[in-house]
Amino acid sequence: MMFDLKAYLNDKRRMIDAALDRFLESASPTRIIEAMRYAVMSGGKRLRPVLCLAGCEAVGGDPDRAMPAACALEMIHTYSLIHDDLPAMDNDNLRRGRPTCHIAFDEATAILAGDALLTLAFSLLSSRSFRAAVPAGDCLEIISMISSAAGCQGMVEGQMRDMLAERCADPLPVAGLEALHSLKTGALIQASVCSGAWVGQGSPDAVASLKIYSQKIGLAFQVADDILNVEGDPAIMGKQVGTDRDRSKMTYPSLVGLSESKAAASRLISEAVSALEPFDHRADPLRAIAGYIIHRKR
Ligand code: IPE
Ligand code: IPE
Ligand code: MG
Ligand code: MG
Repeated sequence: MMFDLKAYLNDKRRMIDAALDRFLESASPTRIIEAMRYAVMSGGKRLRPVLCLAGCEAVGGDPDRAMPAACALEMIHTYSLIHDDLPAMDNDNLRRGRPTCHIAFDEATAILAGDALLTLAFSLLSSRSFRAAVPAGDCLEIISMISSAAGCQGMVEGQMRDMLAERCADPLPVAGLEALHSLKTGALIQASVCSGAWVGQGSPDAVASLKIYSQKIGLAFQVADDILNVEGDPAIMGKQVGTDRDRSKMTYPSLVGLSESKAAASRLISEAVSALEPFDHRADPLRAIAGYIIHRKR
């Protein structure tokens, strides 16, 4: 029987949204909690948490146990988007079909909401409920994996390179752009799949294969984001298009053109799926998500 990705994503997103809602619950929400909720509870694709749950399933684990890590990853991702949209960075006014956090609130509130989401993520990862589901040593391993992916060895370094490239007149070599994209977007995607596999007690060999898979889809995801910024439909995407060109961003289409960017993304996805050969049907969600990453419209 064909794997039904649409039903799988809908089901997982519903569970992730309910868990995020719970983790961000407050009897008397303050302004900062309102801003955090505004940014998180706004219909993102939830790709990183879905990948965490699917990574856990691929190695035969129980995805319910991975839910705190899945939600922590979405909080870190959402914080990165809030800060990415700030006037000092990409200066965007639309995200997930709504005014960006600093437009809906104000810049100071948006900066603080991002800070608070990042810290809340690590509070979740070290919480009693996560430690009840996952051995303490594994919790520490997961925290180490996710913190490296989010910080100056991962996403933050990628964002720094993105900003520096924007100000630089000379184009980067393709390998430099690949490194930038792998840091800014790939690192957190890799940590999503691998932290899920870690919760599921995947073997070292399984985790090594999933690392290759996730590096490939992580890079392909950002290449697809660059392509959508050129030819996507803003009404479907919920964010503006053409902005990379306006801001002289270093992107795959600007460096190698649209058709070579599409070919590169397809190659990466085939390589990602090949890395899943050792896995049985329990990796079908990961196989299907690989294709979705380059065929998505938002
Ligand atoms: C957008 O990420 C930013 C990138 C890293 C390319 P997503 O496309 O996953 O955004 P949401 O979470 O669905 O809004
Ligand atoms: C966002 O990259 C990456 C992170 C937030 C880490 P982009 O700036 O290319 O993504 P969009 O197009 O604003 O979503
Ligand atoms: Mg950016
Ligand atoms: Mg941006």
